[in-house]
This record gives sequence, structure tokens and C-alpha cells, in this order.
Amino acid sequence: MKGISIIILAAGLGTRMKSNLVKILHPLAGMPMLAYTLDLAKSLKPEKIVAVIGHQAEKVKDTFSDYDVNWAIQKEQKGTGHAVMQAKNALNNFNDTVIVLSGDTPLLKKETISELIKSHKSKGSRVAILTTEIDNPYGYGRVIINANGKVERIVEEKDASETIKKIMLINTGIYAFDKEFLFNALSEIKPNNTQGEYYLTDIIGIAAKRGLEINAVKAKDSDEVMGINTRLELARAEKIIRKRINDRWMLNGVTIIDTETTFIDDTVEIGRDTIIYPNNFICGKTKIGEGCTIFPNSRIIDAEIGSEVKIKDSCLIEESKIGDRASVGPFAHLRPYTELGKGVKIGNFVEIKKSVLMDGAKANHLTYLGDSSIGRNVNIGAGTITCNYDGFKKHRTEIGDNVFVGSDVQFIAPVKIGKGAIVAAGTTVTEDVPADSLVISRTKQISKKGWARKKRERQSKS
Ligand code: UD1
Ligand code: CA
Repeated sequence: MKGISIIILAAGLGTRMKSNLVKILHPLAGMPMLAYTLDLAKSLKPEKIVAVIGHQAEKVKDTFSDYDVNWAIQKEQKGTGHAVMQAKNALNNFNDTVIVLSGDTPLLKKETISELIKSHKSKGSRVAILTTEIDNPYGYGRVIINANGKVERIVEEKDASETIKKIMLINTGIYAFDKEFLFNALSEIKPNNTQGEYYLTDIIGIAAKRGLEINAVKAKDSDEVMGINTRLELARAEKIIRKRINDRWMLNGVTIIDTETTFIDDTVEIGRDTIIYPNNFICGKTKIGEGCTIFPNSRIIDAEIGSEVKIKDSCLIEESKIGDRASVGPFAHLRPYTELGKGVKIGNFVEIKKSVLMDGAKANHLTYLGDSSIGRNVNIGAGTITCNYDGFKKHRTEIGDNVFVGSDVQFIAPVKIGKGAIVAAGTTVTEDVPADSLVISRTKQISKKGWARKKRERQSKS
């Protein structure tokens, strides 16, 4: 949008969070809080975005290093008005509308801020402020309306009298200003208040005193402009964002059986006709195809899942790729760099790490496969283990197509099994196996007739 620049206030520690981590980096539905405001700012395509940071500034910059944003530093946190002043230099070559957003108001929607901008521009106002009415206004600045129905000033909770505290019209901390007016008025504010801070809100009173009309635009949904100051509000915001995401996927053709216990990050993608059972966490850059079923209790992080895949109960899936019609679980752990081909079956209590299982391969029970490549249609028997670590280094196990591995086999890596071989149950494979051979390593079985009965008789006598 031409003619607008955006300042985002994000320098405060967030004292009321009682945390060692700066407030705006607290995770909210899988993303650091500030990401929401930065994304919203970006979506408005302004000429410039200036984020004012201070507490843990380096960490904040690192977290958002791939964002196109100008960072302004507020060394000491002397209030929201002082914070805006720190953005002045970055806006030297800009002369139009400045939007001020707060890094701790992540639920704000594009339509609402666009309405504020539209009203500001069309009325040619110098100051526009987004307000809302809420049932419990505790903690917010109250908007004082004079006898003529005009905004007169804003009074912070900490400076408010009992009468003012009863006002339910609040300042959302979101504004549109004419740039010249903004910095001019800011030079007049003084820290004469309970907190000894330079309040940005004081310029509303300054504007009114100068006879300027304050353009107050009321947000309909007070949830959307909720400021997050405590962990209670963080949890409330989390619920609202989770609901928005779930609603979006349901409207796009995904069945969510219990929306209260389904946690999908904003960055996830899901195909239609996929069914998600309760108590699933689907996180990060995960992509799920069409017609999949995600049974209860799994956590899926940064995974790429094809179509018609079944994730049975209680799996942990990290940075893995799963081909169409594959089935995983119950109780499986796919660790990073696992790749499952089409129709692969991974069953109960199987752990896989840095391994490729090609189309049609199966590992149905109690298995560990690490640093391995498993060919097409290979059967891995119950209890099979790749011994990939010798205490110093990791080694690879390579198993060709159509190999049959019986139960309780150990592969002492590095080792290669040729195509079509059969590995007998109980074998410890220490050397490469040629294609189509049988490999067996067991001590010969001895059965001593009557031995057990005689032992019992001896024991009962003594
Ligand atoms: C502020 C408003 C209040 C409004 C509320 C809406 C002021 C004085 N008060 O109060 O009227 O109802 O937001 O949510 O503006 N910040 C800085 N530097 C500072 C101080 C704050 O960058 O020196 C940043 C914070 O990191 C935060 C934002 O400004 O992102 C708001 O600060 P906060 O202390 O949360 O203000 P509130 O008390 O919520
Ligand atoms: Ca706040």
C-alpha cells in the first residue's frame, strides 16, 4: 500500500509474563508472538516496516532474520511514546501515514486494520485510533469521550480514578497517524504519570487540545485486539488462533473430530477428506495429503505425508517423508531423515532414523532401523535391529529389494544384503550377503529328553 509505513512496538520485556524470555518471542500456536504482527504488517505491503526492539534484541533479530524489516533499538524502555521516537530516523525519507501496531496484539486481522487505514485516509484525519468495547477492561487505557461525543484523551489503568476504571471503551494500542503530527506531538509528551513513562497515548490528548478531531474506529470483535500481557492472555490467544486454524481446515474439507484437542500450526497444510482424531499435534511445516487418517495422540513435526496414509495411535513423527497409502504405528517413532515409500508399513514399537524404506517394505513390530536403506517389498521381522553405532561412528546397513528378514536379526553395520536373500530368524549378520542366498547364524539346537522332569523330581526331594 503506497503512502503507509508501519511501526511495530516490541522493545518491552513483558514484565507481567514473569519470564526470562522476552514476551514477543513466546510461542503462540507454533510461532513466536511477534511473527503474527510482522506477517500482518507485511500483508499490507507498506513502504517500510520499522520494528522497535530492545530487550533481547539480538535474539529477536536472529529469530526473524529472513524478514524484510528495519530494526530500531530502544535501549531503555521509557514507554510507548519513547519507543515510537526511536523509529523516527528510519522514516526520514517518508512523509505520509504511519501505522503503529503492538507486538503483543497478535490476533489483529487484516480487514480490521485496513478499515482503520481506509477511514483515516478517506476522512483525511491526522489521528485515527482503533478502540473497542470490552466487558473486562482491566489493564487497558480507557478512552474518555467529552460532552460533544468526541475523544478527549486516554487514561491508563494505573492512572485511572474509580469512575474512569468503569469505562468499557478501551484503546487497542493500534493507530494511524499523519507522520508530521505524530513526531511533532511526541516532542511535547512528558513522563508525568504513575509509571514515569512517555506514553504514546498522551498525544491523543495533545491532538484534542489542538482542536484536531480524533477519528475513533471501533473494532467489532474485542478478542481480535486483545493485548497479551500475562500467560493467562497467552493461553486465551492460543485457543482463539487454534480455533481459527481448525475452522479454516474444516471449511476446506478436513474432518476434525474434536476441535478442542486438535492443535494444528498455522504453517501446516492438509488435503481434503483427511480425518484427524483427537489429541493430535500437527506442527511446523508439515504437509498432509488427501484422504489420510490421523488416529489419536500423535505429534507430527515438519513431515511430508502423501495421500491415503494412516497414522495409527500414538506416534512421534519428525522431519520425515511418508509415501501414499503407507501406514505408521501404533507407537512408532520416525526420527529425522526417514523416508517411507508408497504402501510401506511401519508397525508397533518401531523406531526409524535416517533411513529409506522403498515401496512396499514392511517393519511391523519392535524394530530399530538406523542409517539404513531398505529395498522394495523387504520384510523386516519382529525384533530386528540395525547395530549402526560402534561407540565412535555410525555405519550403514543396505538391504536389497525383496529380501526377507526373519525375526530377531541383528545387522552389525556396515553391511550389505543382496537382493532376494533370506536372513534366517535369530541371525547376527556381520558380513555382506550375496543376492538370493540364505544367511543363518545360530548355534545348533540340543534337546535333552526328560531332563526337565528329572530336575523337578530332584528338587522336590531336597
Ligand atoms: C498499551 C497502551 C494502552 C492500551 C494497551 C493495548 C500506552 C501507554 N498504553 O498499554 O492504552 O490499552 O497498550 O494493548 O501506550 N513497548 C516498547 N517500549 C516501551 C514500552 C512498551 O517497545 O518502552 C512495547 C511493548 O513491548 C509492547 C507494546 O509496546 O509490545 C505495548 O506495551 P505494554 O507495556 O504492553 O503497554 P500496555 O500497558 O499494554
Ligand atoms: Ca500490552
